[in-house]
Amino acid sequence: MTQSQKLTVKPYRGTRDFYPEHMYLRNHMFNIMRSVAELYGYEEYDGPMLENFDLYAAKSGEELVKEQLYHFVDRGNRHVAIRPEMTPTVARMVAARIGELPRPIRWFSFPNLWRYEKPQRGRLREHWQFNIDILGSDSVSADQEIIEVAIKIMLKLGADKKDFCIHISDRRILMYFLESVLKLDPSLSAPVCRVIDKRAKISAEDFNRMLIDIGLSNGQIDEIDSYLNLTGKNLSDHPVSQSEGYAELNKLLEGLANNGMDSMCKVDMSIVRGLDYYTGTVFEMYDLSPENRRALFGGGRYDNLVGLFSKERVSGVGLGMGDVTVADFLQTHNLLPKLNPAASVHVALFDENSRLSTSHLANILRSAGIRTSMQIESARLGKQFKWANSKQIPVVVLQGPDEKAQGTVLIKEMASHNQRVVKEADLVSAIHQLLNLDV
Ligand code: HAM
Repeated sequence: MTQSQKLTVKPYRGTRDFYPEHMYLRNHMFNIMRSVAELYGYEEYDGPMLENFDLYAAKSGEELVKEQLYHFVDRGNRHVAIRPEMTPTVARMVAARIGELPRPIRWFSFPNLWRYEKPQRGRLREHWQFNIDILGSDSVSADQEIIEVAIKIMLKLGADKKDFCIHISDRRILMYFLESVLKLDPSLSAPVCRVIDKRAKISAEDFNRMLIDIGLSNGQIDEIDSYLNLTGKNLSDHPVSQSEGYAELNKLLEGLANNGMDSMCKVDMSIVRGLDYYTGTVFEMYDLSPENRRALFGGGRYDNLVGLFSKERVSGVGLGMGDVTVADFLQTHNLLPKLNPAASVHVALFDENSRLSTSHLANILRSAGIRTSMQIESARLGKQFKWANSKQIPVVVLQGPDEKAQGTVLIKEMASHNQRVVKEADLVSAIHQLLNLDV
């Protein structure tokens, strides 16, 4: 590269720079997610961004590992992967303290995850994902709690009940269908599930061809088609109503209805989930607006993941909610938050001689909990007011030599241009009043 050639300012493909306004949105979403998780008694955890490659090779699923995983051999010859999801990490962390953690374990986290995907609406290479999981409970009440948390988050983000829907199914029903109704060889179940998971993204011809390639007959494919189109209503007449999964699904729906959540949920047998470790309930949430085709979140129950590390069986259920898809939802439904100014008050600097008293004034305001910026460079007052305006700071405070001599301060409201002089001792209460803050 020559001197005249400059490096690109663009971030790596499929990743984003978070300028303050983007960070503001991310924090808005995460603060709501965190507050709802804490309301249900969950605790925050985190883990490393690098994990052993084997952690994902074992259970995450073919597409994720073969096509999307970022992995490399480190300087010590270890095969390392950048985490594409958080669930294997949470299983590993729980297994490491298996004897100590009181159960159920209710945990949440906000990892950034990496997947080598083709960047498109709702899909990037780096995204942040709110993860919430309960481990150590087999009860369907745990599945219900996770779904409830997700619904409460959507409502707190401002969503209308009619704007989204959680599609729910159960892998045990699908397994019963494939192995006991269709009498497929169990070794074919996983490949068939993978094709079913792709169904919404491929043509009917490709779907049929992929199943034929696995070894299914046309008759079996027709049966799969009608199974996938079953709704909650006609499920009870189908042979799968004999399965354990069907009974559990009904209990889950009953629990959700009991808490007034059923109108935002529906049974959808085509929900399978792409990750291999799910063993029971599986669900995904969709925006009902056609612009956003990607699931806002997905999750389910996994019974054998902790067993990769420990002899003890610890079942878990949880979900991952992506920042990209949630932000798309908020934008589509006009729910983006209004950007708050970084400071409520800007303290202007009259001249170099007043620097120390100005700094003192700014600290009086900060001690009272008022977000305050202070002019650092000497500049014309007009320029200082203009800067405050450009940052949408609603109030500017100034103490020149005259005000200083009289123990007063000038307060200017930027929107109305009103200004008044108050005693220094009354500054905090005057600002509180102006900003409508609690004293
Ligand atoms: P997942 O379905 O792979 O599940 O991802 C969950 C959510 O993360 C998706 O619904 C989507 O909102 C978001 N997401 C996934 N990949 C991307 C991407 N490339 N770009 C933007 N957003 C994305 C899991 O990861 C499971 N580990 C979730 C889980 C937690 N299951 C149990 N506990």
